[in-house]
Amino acid sequence: MSTLQFPPDFVWGTATSAFQIEGATSAGGRGESIWDRFCRTPGRIVNGDHADVACDHYHRFQEDVALLADLGIPAYRFSIAWPRILPNGHGKLNPQGLDFYSRLVDELLAHGITPWPTLYHWDLPQALQDQGGWPERGTAEAFVEYVDIVTQALGDRVQHWFTHNEPWCVAMMGHARGEHAPGCASGPAALAAAHHVLLSHGASVPVIRANCPGAEVGIVLNLTPAYPASESEADRQAARRFDGGFNRWFLDPIHGRGYPADMVDVYRQRGWLPEGVLPFVQGEDLDTIAEPCDFLAINYYTRAILRGGSEMEQGGEPATLPPPAHSECTDMGWEVYPEGLRDLLIRVHQDYRPARLLIAENGCSYSDAPGQDGRIRDERRIQYLRDHLAQARLAMAEGVPLQGYFAWSLLDNFEWQFGHGQRFGLVALDPATGRRLPKDSAAWFARLVASPATSIP
Ligand code: FCB
Repeated sequence: MSTLQFPPDFVWGTATSAFQIEGATSAGGRGESIWDRFCRTPGRIVNGDHADVACDHYHRFQEDVALLADLGIPAYRFSIAWPRILPNGHGKLNPQGLDFYSRLVDELLAHGITPWPTLYHWDLPQALQDQGGWPERGTAEAFVEYVDIVTQALGDRVQHWFTHNEPWCVAMMGHARGEHAPGCASGPAALAAAHHVLLSHGASVPVIRANCPGAEVGIVLNLTPAYPASESEADRQAARRFDGGFNRWFLDPIHGRGYPADMVDVYRQRGWLPEGVLPFVQGEDLDTIAEPCDFLAINYYTRAILRGGSEMEQGGEPATLPPPAHSECTDMGWEVYPEGLRDLLIRVHQDYRPARLLIAENGCSYSDAPGQDGRIRDERRIQYLRDHLAQARLAMAEGVPLQGYFAWSLLDNFEWQFGHGQRFGLVALDPATGRRLPKDSAAWFARLVASPATSIP
């Protein structure tokens, strides 16, 4: 049994994102997003699921804020849907969209809950995709325009901003692997998308600061620690390459180091970059991307184990091994590896020294049916959260300036290409009525948050 003791000023929250919970995709003047389009494309989402209703949070947000307040959760990370604010991506504003988030922020504040919005959690307006989407530089310019509008409107009340959620997913899942919207499969497009996402992050930071004096700003990266399958040189090289593509390609430029040279070589060999130039980098871009932030936020779910093999030739993707046979895996098939969180936090702190760190997402998908009494005894989720928090606490004891933790997720919701079958919530939804049913993990998390300085078994 581990015990957890956190400092009194530690930030405790739960996280969600707009597309995964809001539903109401054609209400309130919202424009189409790339995920609406992707869900309508046959074969893209498990069971042909879509998020037209999702948790219907758009209509039930007051109930959800009351739920957070009942649980005593002091901070809430949610995202703002760009197509609600600017249905065409730029130009004409939809005041109803802005008003929705303004009311959500007011509701949170009225309940003493601190809003931590994310400005982009993957739901690009389809109109911008029609003009090329993230591989085009114009999308970065449109993002800055959108951020200016949102932060002018909410900046009097919102003091904490995340620019982007998981640029790796936007770039690689969306543009190289094609498993996320917009479903494109082109390495060169993925690298251009990554650059424009990072550029739009850096360019929007001063805009946020101007509109919200005193606010804290940062980006959310999904980092996955890479472990070689053995001490062999080949396995170590494979782990280094995985780390380069997944982690350093994003960490290095935001910390002022430009793109990692070893990975530039790999991408040239792979045919994703031409010889001699990074075609998407212009003028002062690298300085813009390195705009100093107040914190770096990390999403952590699992680790990767790498084996060197013939894939490594010609700059290929290194092979990821399945989790070891003895490991516990979640319903996503992701290995439960809490030690990876400590390793990751210490590594990021040592190698990059961000001013502060936050965990913006951590959680697990387990489907536990309600018992006869209606109670959902999700013991495995409690164990997962407890073990990860214990590792985070260890990293803090070793000097990592970790400032807060957001559990993913408040609600069971629409899990992207996996549809509604994967359940990450501390709170379940009755599929027939949409009624919210807090699981045992919600009560456990609430107890921890209520007395973080005492030991919680
Ligand atoms: C992260 C996403 C989040 C959720 C979790 C399970 O990659 O940011 O929206 O889907 O994974």
